[in-house]
Amino acid sequence: MGTPVIAGLGELFKTHGLSKKTVVLFDEHTRRLFGDELLKKLSDEGFQWTELVIPAREASKSFSVAYRLYGRMIEADVDRSWNLLAVGGGVVGDLGGFIAASYFRGIPVIQLPTTLLAMTDSSIGGKVAINHPLGKNLIGFFHSPELVLIDPSSLATLPKREIYAGMAEVVKYGFIADEPFFTFLDLHFADVTGLKEPYITKAVKKSAFIKDDVVKKDFRETDGLRATLNFGHTFAHGLEKLAEYRHLRHGEAVTIGMVCALFLSHNLGYLDRESLDRGLSLLRKFRFPKGVLKRRFLDIDSDLLLESMFSDKKKLDKKLRFVLLKNLGEAFLLEENIEDRHVLKAISDGQALFSSKSDR
Ligand SMILES: NC(=O)c1ccc[n+]([C@@H]2O[C@H](COP(=O)([O-])OP(=O)(O)OC[C@H]3O[C@@H](n4cnc5c(N)ncnc54)[C@H](O)[C@@H]3O)[C@@H](O)[C@H]2O)c1
Ligand SMILES: [Zn+2]
Repeated sequence: MGTPVIAGLGELFKTHGLSKKTVVLFDEHTRRLFGDELLKKLSDEGFQWTELVIPAREASKSFSVAYRLYGRMIEADVDRSWNLLAVGGGVVGDLGGFIAASYFRGIPVIQLPTTLLAMTDSSIGGKVAINHPLGKNLIGFFHSPELVLIDPSSLATLPKREIYAGMAEVVKYGFIADEPFFTFLDLHFADVTGLKEPYITKAVKKSAFIKDDVVKKDFRETDGLRATLNFGHTFAHGLEKLAEYRHLRHGEAVTIGMVCALFLSHNLGYLDRESLDRGLSLLRKFRFPKGVLKRRFLDIDSDLLLESMFSDKKKLDKKLRFVLLKNLGEAFLLEENIEDRHVLKAISDGQALFSSKSDR
């Protein structure tokens, strides 16, 4: 950090009509990495602040954690004149946004994403949620952030596994919306995942702008456009569920899901062979921790995965919804129902692709 985003915090708040009374939410990692410097900066700039720290895990996106934090805020006399600054990955951003949306009937939220996934996806678009024991992200709001403060230099400490997980969403934007961006990512995959400048900043910026653009045009996901952000996700949600939301990062599931979705697009006659091959060649650059791909995808029976995809709670009318590609850079939501055999074939095509280099 220490870049203009943080240096100019007081001024930014002022121009956006935000008060200098801020609840700062961290997880234990982002507190350790960025907390001292950030809180000192807030003090120097005359902010009144109170800090909250949650365990760094998905389980923190829960009602019981939110309930505890409401209590801490009430005790600290936080009222409607305050705002909340969420400093961390998607877990902190989603929980922070949920608390801000509900506390005192809503206070402004400012997102300061520190993972690649949060910078390019979860901090943008205003969807905030907590999990329920019966499903992920089921209880939530649309609560758009007043500000999203993105500083790619804060990625320097992020573990490689998290970088690949975020990169899945970055690559997704190339697939669904922007062929030149796809080509850039293909060419500079190692530069971006190695966090080299100017590549990483370009990748983050472009992704954030594409997400923002899609969200602005279809905020409540009504006309199918926002749904294209779910490219690869129908397969991914099934895989994540089978992995008990623990053994596979969301982005890893999305990488596998995009491979299957590419095959499905091609097998149904929408995507030509050359585009399929270009897409697969980019996705083969992703790396998984040893054994993860084998245990969480290659060894899984395709019928079992299909069943798990059906049990994902986000389906409409018990139908699986697929986002497919017509071209690299052009996605659409398939409205009609497709036969299970096509889905099963796409899964086995994906397994065949990865087994040719399985021990990774
Ligand atoms: N709201 C949305 O639109 C949306 C979209 C996609 C995902 N999500 C949600 O996002 C969550 C996943 O987010 P995530 O992948 O960022 O995971 P995360 O928030 O769990 O962060 C991953 C890990 O990285 C650590 N970390 C964060 N910044 C770091 C840094 N700079 N250096 C080192 N370590 C750092 C965190 O402490 C954590 O251990 C899920 O709950 C998912 O449901 C929401
Ligand atoms: Zn995703």
